[in-house]
Amino acid sequence: MEEKQADIVLTGDRPTGPLHLGHYVGSLANRIQMQNVHRQFVMIADVQALTDNYENPQKVRDNVLQVALDYLAVGIDPKKTTIFIQSMIPEIAELTVFYLNLVTLARLQRNPTVKSEMQQKGLENRIPVGFLVYPVSQAADITIFRARYVPVGEDQLPMIEQTNEIVRSFNRIYGDVLREAEAIIPKIARLPGTDGSAKMSKTLGNTIYLGEEEDNLYKKVMSMYTDPNHIKVSDPGKVEGNPVFAYLDAFDQDLAQVARLKEQYSAGGLGDVALKKYLYEVLRAFLNPIREKRKMFAQDMHAVEQLVKEGTGEARAVAEKTMKEVRSAMCLDYFMK
Ligand code: TRP
Repeated sequence: MEEKQADIVLTGDRPTGPLHLGHYVGSLANRIQMQNVHRQFVMIADVQALTDNYENPQKVRDNVLQVALDYLAVGIDPKKTTIFIQSMIPEIAELTVFYLNLVTLARLQRNPTVKSEMQQKGLENRIPVGFLVYPVSQAADITIFRARYVPVGEDQLPMIEQTNEIVRSFNRIYGDVLREAEAIIPKIARLPGTDGSAKMSKTLGNTIYLGEEEDNLYKKVMSMYTDPNHIKVSDPGKVEGNPVFAYLDAFDQDLAQVARLKEQYSAGGLGDVALKKYLYEVLRAFLNPIREKRKMFAQDMHAVEQLVKEGTGEARAVAEKTMKEVRSAMCLDYFMK
């Protein structure tokens, strides 16, 4: 690992399925940049994945290395970024227990991200405590690495806010041990689903995966939601709220061309089929090299596992160091002499 004295970056993903274009726009793109400037840790958050998949441990297990493959395929470079598995750092669980004293039940129930996930999953009246407290565990993820920056999608902002509240309480009570973190939000705040809903999500079935095969990509793009009132080619169409244009904004380098297409679409005279075929070409050019790289890495899963194992060892050493300070600040430094 290269020595970088710069600020620390930490972020992560739940291994519940392969990563998709929403993950790319939301956070992967920023990570690819930040690994060149900062000391970066990327966590495969299997413990957090279990908070709403505790009945499917095999699914979580199977997706850990799939997520690692996605990282490698998009250009997260294990020479620059430490990739590790959350459950292999038991110090995070320990720190979570200490943090639980600093958070009220009412505060957790007000967390907007948890609230909307609970609604989406229909969990409002029988919410597992593990799920309710995952923001506390996420605060431990972030602070145990003393992260300054956390590249995430905007839906994660309440998590960072809650993390910093915990940091301030901890430092006030036990002394100045922890540091506050800052979310790094992407330029394009979020990518809509292919069905036009606000967010791309596996549960909603409106995703395009980073490893998507060409024929599936074609089917998904050609069946995308557009402007429902744009029926004839000559009809004026809506650009605003049209996911096809949101994807072009995110992935087409040719800004002048996108501007022309928007103009033509709003004026009337550009059909959905032609527009979608254009988007397909743009996404195909973006995804082809990623898919190829993914397949190349997948040929040697042992090597992928080895990379993650090494990363996990490095991450654990950093976490253990923070925990020594935490325990000592909390008068839990027994048997040290
Ligand atoms: N909650 C994040 C998500 O659902 C994943 C995550 C777990 C995370 N731990 C983290 C993100 C720490 C940033 C920092 O995408």
